[in-house]
Amino acid sequence: MKHKEAIGKRRTFGVIAHPDAGKTTLTEKLLLFGGAIQTAGAVKNNKIKKSATSDFMEIEKQRGISVATSVMAFEYRGKQINILDTPGHKDFAEDTYRTLTAVDSVILVVDCANGVEEQTERLMEVCRMRKTPVIIFINKMDRDGKDPFELLDELESKLNINVRPLAWPIGMGYNFQGVYSIYQNQLNLFQPDKTKIAKDVVSFTNVDDAQIDEIIGEEGANQLREDLELIDGVYEPFDREKYLAGDVAPVFFGSAVNNFGVKELLDSFIEISPAPRGRDTDKGFIEPEDDKFSGFVFKIHANLDPKHRDRIAFLRIVSGRFERNTFYNHVRNAKKMKFPNPTSFMAQDKNVIDEAFPGDVIGLYDSGNFKIGDTLTEKDNFSFKGIPSFSPEIFQELENLDPLKSKQLDKGIKQLMDEGVAQLFIQQPGNRKIVGTVGQLQFEVILYRLEHEYGAKCTFRPRNFHLATWITSDNEQQMQEFLKAKTTNVAVDKDGNRVFLAETPFLLQMAERDYPEIKFHRTSEFL
Ligand code: G4P
Repeated sequence: MKHKEAIGKRRTFGVIAHPDAGKTTLTEKLLLFGGAIQTAGAVKNNKIKKSATSDFMEIEKQRGISVATSVMAFEYRGKQINILDTPGHKDFAEDTYRTLTAVDSVILVVDCANGVEEQTERLMEVCRMRKTPVIIFINKMDRDGKDPFELLDELESKLNINVRPLAWPIGMGYNFQGVYSIYQNQLNLFQPDKTKIAKDVVSFTNVDDAQIDEIIGEEGANQLREDLELIDGVYEPFDREKYLAGDVAPVFFGSAVNNFGVKELLDSFIEISPAPRGRDTDKGFIEPEDDKFSGFVFKIHANLDPKHRDRIAFLRIVSGRFERNTFYNHVRNAKKMKFPNPTSFMAQDKNVIDEAFPGDVIGLYDSGNFKIGDTLTEKDNFSFKGIPSFSPEIFQELENLDPLKSKQLDKGIKQLMDEGVAQLFIQQPGNRKIVGTVGQLQFEVILYRLEHEYGAKCTFRPRNFHLATWITSDNEQQMQEFLKAKTTNVAVDKDGNRVFLAETPFLLQMAERDYPEIKFHRTSEFL
């Protein structure tokens, strides 16, 4: 296939949500429409179960299974859809943030009763930072939830984005009758059906059509007309350019488990969502149309079986055409590498592929050469920017319990950090290793893997830090004063950047006040 034609066909996106809003269910329904799976339940079974919080081996086992479904690709109405899965489990939030660097747009799922939740806000913050186009799907309309207009207001105020409804619910909860697609001027009627695809679609070109009264009753029809009029009065007409710029989020309503509103979402999605986009590098912007291949690694999945130490690096292709068995530059290592068995993740199977195009994600078998953020290119030596680190929330100091194994420990820690399991901050004096994570689970994972894969025994001692902020300043004198005054709270990250570890939000505020010429960054994106 020709490279440029391939770009136009692809749509690469992620489905994100606060846990339990219905991300897995919606993903599964999208796959059903695409024919990628035949029955409901196939994706669900791979989901990390909530009950597994205290049993990380079980989670890792499930994560192992879910490698195959990390990227789900299928064809729908002439487009190749690549859905990148993001772990819903809070402890893997960092994984999700990184995956967002590899997508071109997202669908954000919100529960109509819970509205905007904690993780919804954080995910949206990451999207806003990157100007990622967002579509919002308000789910569970078959349950009694908040009033749709109230929900729209909440989205705007809490998520700091303008919204524009492109579908509208008729009733809610027990009275939920269906979804009117504003974008396509179609009425879809509600028939709870958990596995198949809704067929009862009636099309209208005018909401005043008397047939609507016949179908949903006069009261419902009048309410719908009133609502639509209000929407037109309050919200600006949908402007695709604004959506693509990340300035307005179109909103859809439905019930994923009942397969309702999903088709409206998908049909509109393939029309409005962006084709693969370029990415910024240290030597300028790279467009997908650029003939030379380039891509970056955004995720590394390790095999926990010590007999098979291979890892899979997930590479997002940004430009050109990737070919099997062709030498490419591993820019950071200044080394040429070729890949005999690159895999695609079409549906549930992992297949060896011969070529791949911008927007695609491929798996490369790796024996430890890659780390997150690495760039692979055909000719030029440039590096993609922007796989940011986010401030962890839990900090513990690593203590070696077997001094004879410190080499193994250092090697193990380095590799785990390259995979993005956690972040390492080094504190002086004494070269103290502070490990920061978003969830408690990662500490168990680290201890287990250090012992079983690297033969190193260690323990963790809690440190009372609240947040890590990356610090920069144009005023080196003030920076030096700060570093001197806060010795016990400063450290360097894996790349040698200075970090301030604050015990409480108040102490961070004080530092910001006392040292006005120092910038305290919540992510490393600015670097
Ligand atoms: P997540 O990936 O975002 O964490 O959510 P998931 O899809 O697993 O959905 C969370 C729960 O919400 C599931 O119920 C699911 O069945 C339910 N759900 C999803 N969509 C809808 C919807 O449109 N309406 C209603 N009423 N419920 C919905 P569960 O009890 O946790 O699991 P299950 O055993 O029922 O599958």
